[in-house]
Amino acid sequence: MNIEQLFQPFTLKSLHIPNRIVMAPMTRSFSPGGVPTDEVAAYYARRAKGGVGLILSEGTVIDRPASSNDANIPRFHGEQPLAGWQKVINGVHASGGSMGPQIWHMGIMENHASGWLPGAPFEGPSPFKSADFQNGQAMSEADIADTIRAFGQAAADAKALGFDCVELHGAHTYLIDQFFWEVTNNRSDGYGGKTLLERSRFAIEVIREVRKRVGDDFAIILRLSQWKGSNYGNKLAKTPQEMEQWLTALADAGVDIFHCSQRRFWEPEFEGTDLNFAGWAKKLTGRASITVGSVGLSGEFLAAFRGESSNPASLDELLRRYDRGDFDLVAVGRAILADPEWVHKVRQQRTGELVGFAREALGQLI
Ligand SMILES: Cc1cc2nc3c(=O)[nH]c(=O)nc-3n(C[C@H](O)[C@H](O)[C@H](O)COP(=O)(O)O)c2cc1C
Repeated sequence: MNIEQLFQPFTLKSLHIPNRIVMAPMTRSFSPGGVPTDEVAAYYARRAKGGVGLILSEGTVIDRPASSNDANIPRFHGEQPLAGWQKVINGVHASGGSMGPQIWHMGIMENHASGWLPGAPFEGPSPFKSADFQNGQAMSEADIADTIRAFGQAAADAKALGFDCVELHGAHTYLIDQFFWEVTNNRSDGYGGKTLLERSRFAIEVIREVRKRVGDDFAIILRLSQWKGSNYGNKLAKTPQEMEQWLTALADAGVDIFHCSQRRFWEPEFEGTDLNFAGWAKKLTGRASITVGSVGLSGEFLAAFRGESSNPASLDELLRRYDRGDFDLVAVGRAILADPEWVHKVRQQRTGELVGFAREALGQLI
């Protein structure tokens, strides 16, 4: 298998990147008061220097009173946070990289261990985060309209600051995903419904608004996950037909690239073929897709939160699928969090220098 396959350029609208490797969005909570610091800017610039094709920022929250549960998570609204993000994108560009912020509203959340609380109750399609946990309130139609506006404003600000694209966080049981999921969306108005397509109305309106604000030529990435934090085996779309309806509607609303979150990229999405989520997304919509999940590492990321270390692992299976045309881009999380030089080391086959991932890496901005 030839690693050089991953070092072909990729161009889509506003995105022009020299290779297929994406830094996955990873929350770091190093932005006190929601303002990205110079250290945060330097951390991303190191990844640009290190050869990452496209950097996706950690999730950064929109202008709603309860879009975050953590004061140290960066905001993507307000003068100081946006000035911080300006430094981030300037540093990345000066280092030869490209970047998009991951625009986020957490929806219904657990209270943070720090004791910090937002200025209003958490909000979601319902008060539920899972079948047996609730904390906050169901959004009114006015709340929904304002949230859609705030997503659009954040995307417009990303473009104005000079970012190369935006990613909308529609995965991992946060707000947009809470609307998709029947367990957290029990609404009886036009934002609920029995089918996944009906429950996609909120996402569709967010994407349309973002498209309206950024114009036709700015790349929009949507991150999705079938799995939920409280149920890794969950499938929002239970069949390829259901997935086609869902993703086609999202593509028609304006998504350019589907970022398909899996814990392990090699796991098949449906029985009968080895195609993964990113493979199905590309096949069903004709849009570009990003795969992710334990690329170059032996263990998966949720186990990493529980303290499990991972060793470097072969990229052969990834390359086999890439070569087959399953996906366009490959996101790498922990391996790049732990080592800004990961891309260069992989390309130059300096495998003995790869460091793997240990939980200690989370405590600092390496
Ligand atoms: C410390 C950490 C923070 C993360 N934060 C986010 C986030 O803010 N948004 C998101 O969509 N995914 C987040 N993820 C998931 C990663 O983007 C990625 O999907 C996951 O780590 C699997 O990739 P990996 O196996 O290469 O690490 C996070 C993962 C880690 C390890």
